Amino acid sequence: MNRFVKPLQLGKLSLPSNIFYSPLAGCSDYPFRQMAARYRPGLMFCEMVKMDALIRHEPSTYHLLDYDPSMRPIGGQICGSKPKMAAPCARIIEELGFDVVDLNCGCPVDKVTKDGSGSGMLKNPELIGEVISNMVAAVSIPVTVKIRAGWDDTSINAPEITKIAEAAGAKAISIHGRTRQQKYTGKANWDHIRKCKEAASSIYVIGNGDVFDPEAAHDLFTQSGCDGILVSRGTFGKPWIVEDIRQFDRGMPLETPDVRAHLLEHMEYISAYQTDRKALLDMRRVGCWYLRSGQGTKKLRESLNHAKDIQEVKTLILDYDWTNTTFNRNAPDC
Ligand SMILES: Cc1cc2nc3c(=O)[nH]c(=O)nc-3n(C[C@H](O)[C@H](O)[C@H](O)COP(=O)(O)O)c2cc1C
Repeated sequence: MNRFVKPLQLGKLSLPSNIFYSPLAGCSDYPFRQMAARYRPGLMFCEMVKMDALIRHEPSTYHLLDYDPSMRPIGGQICGSKPKMAAPCARIIEELGFDVVDLNCGCPVDKVTKDGSGSGMLKNPELIGEVISNMVAAVSIPVTVKIRAGWDDTSINAPEITKIAEAAGAKAISIHGRTRQQKYTGKANWDHIRKCKEAASSIYVIGNGDVFDPEAAHDLFTQSGCDGILVSRGTFGKPWIVEDIRQFDRGMPLETPDVRAHLLEHMEYISAYQTDRKALLDMRRVGCWYLRSGQGTKKLRESLNHAKDIQEVKTLILDYDWTNTTFNRNAPDC
């Protein structure tokens, strides 16, 4: 079997591996990244932040960019379409100590695309080049960009954008193999990623979409020839997935994770970081991530959703009888 997992040199930055964890709005928060850091992905990202909010020094936006040295290498992702804002924003990310700054050209949400930001940028490839050039000129950390295959099926332009990003000085481009029109539905088409790899000369092509297990990571490398992989929803309730991918790549058996211990640890990180109210809400989401693959855990999941405070959540998890719970690797969605 070919080995695909290897270190990656991003400009002056040496990454320990080419398996990255995605920026995930509302999900890749500080406690999530504390869990992820235990398994050392090649690079992880904070949630995207809006350029105008960074410039306005909105405290809630800066809060999203909290990180701890254990999370390195870590990237900050900015979202916006104004070339003049790109340089100061990239500089802010660099000054905050991030290892990489990424430009979001994939967010499909109407609120974001209506001013041409996020995946709205796919309609204007030249603008993507201009924004990236300004970022590259402003910082010495590597600049990367994350795109989708195109706006819709009739306007696939990821290979063209790959060339533009490369010419503008980006060191890597992540391609989500869905169009904006698809949002998160249907299957990611990895053929688009292969075409980007064929279009690239020096820029690294990072494949993204539908990697939920190590077999899929392997298939994505094989089918697209990509240089690295960005795991997104596959990290939900599975902070160890990068380790699974490494083990599979070496032809070694996968470890059986202690899901209960991970859930409890994640809950402790959430409790320590968030207010009690936010911790309660977060635990509904995070609890579902870990428990959805467990046979017979439906009742516990329902109880977590009805818990009145975080103390009750803790008691429910601690008192639950886990002796007969088995976990299946192919979990349904929450
Ligand atoms: C809840 C959620 C939040 C996301 N937030 C971001 C984000 O902040 N920045 C970004 O570039 N992509 C974001 N994405 C897109 C993912 O990074 C990824 O491209 C997409 O989920 C496809 O990969 P997957 O099929 O492996 O999940 C988000 C996706 C989800 C489901």
